[in-house]
Amino acid sequence: PTPVIIDCDTGVDDALALLFAVRHPALDVRAITCVAGNTDVDGVVRNTLTVLEQAGAPDIPVARGAERPLIEPPRTAPVHGSDGMGDLGLPAPARQPVDMDAVTLLRREILASPTPVTLIPTAPLTNIALLLRTHPEVTRNIERIVFMGGAVEVGNATPVAEFNVWHDPEAAAILLTAGVPMTMYGLDVFTRVVVPAPTVHRLRESRDPGTRLAGDLLAHRPATPGSSPDDSEAGGLGDAGAVCAVADPAGITTRLLPVEVSLAPGPTRGQTIVDRRPRPGEAEHHGEARTTPLVDVALDVDVDRFVKLYLETVER
Ligand code: BDR
Ligand code: CA
Repeated sequence: PTPVIIDCDTGVDDALALLFAVRHPALDVRAITCVAGNTDVDGVVRNTLTVLEQAGAPDIPVARGAERPLIEPPRTAPVHGSDGMGDLGLPAPARQPVDMDAVTLLRREILASPTPVTLIPTAPLTNIALLLRTHPEVTRNIERIVFMGGAVEVGNATPVAEFNVWHDPEAAAILLTAGVPMTMYGLDVFTRVVVPAPTVHRLRESRDPGTRLAGDLLAHRPATPGSSPDDSEAGGLGDAGAVCAVADPAGITTRLLPVEVSLAPGPTRGQTIVDRRPRPGEAEHHGEARTTPLVDVALDVDVDRFVKLYLETVER
């Protein structure tokens, strides 16, 4: 199996991602690290531990990470409910996080892995930026970073910026210059992968606590704008789609493109600027001197394929 580490801010859809990752036979989840985002970092740790217990995977090491972004003040995402995970009334976890901060656990697990690790950040990139700046030697044992963040077209936190990048733009900029192969699973594909209402209903009736939890979380996730009231239970896979893209890379269509984060104050801050100018060399032609890192940007997703993969895995 592929060794993976998920860095998350659980988070309704981060929880969906964890439920999938721990049940996929080709993924070996080596560790999970937590960062402030959807809710404060202690809430993220609690939610993460609870999800793993419900999923029947209580032994994966979980570490607490950054309490706040590098420069921005802390700001949570109210859409995930007061506990950051949909207020489902889940039990408190039985265990504690490991006695080690997220950066230390990330370093340990990455360097200890006999085969290179795939990192899957589904949250603001603060922990990953701190890791890259503190222990740059880890990049030699990172296979690829597949991150949920950014948008080619439309944002969510602002008209142009996606939440994870907007929350900590400097951290996202550090990530992009890490010099390792990278896939951006941005909002353009993120919002499209929706599980239909009757299927969500079926999951909610399951006798397996992990499957049931996936159903309850999906019922809390908004479906795509414009869906009918009959679809009240339909829900987006969100962050879980990024993990699907690791398990089944052929489910997304990517293009290697230059990506840069706007760090300017004002309305563009946190925007991912994806250079889709048609002719290679256009930039040089116009005298632009900078070299922008190249990222495999997900431009299309096979929705049915990812929904099927998700259900097969979570209901197994
Ligand atoms: C991202 O923001 C969070 O609210 C979600 O968990 C996801 O990671 C989408 O912009
Ligand atoms: Ca998230």
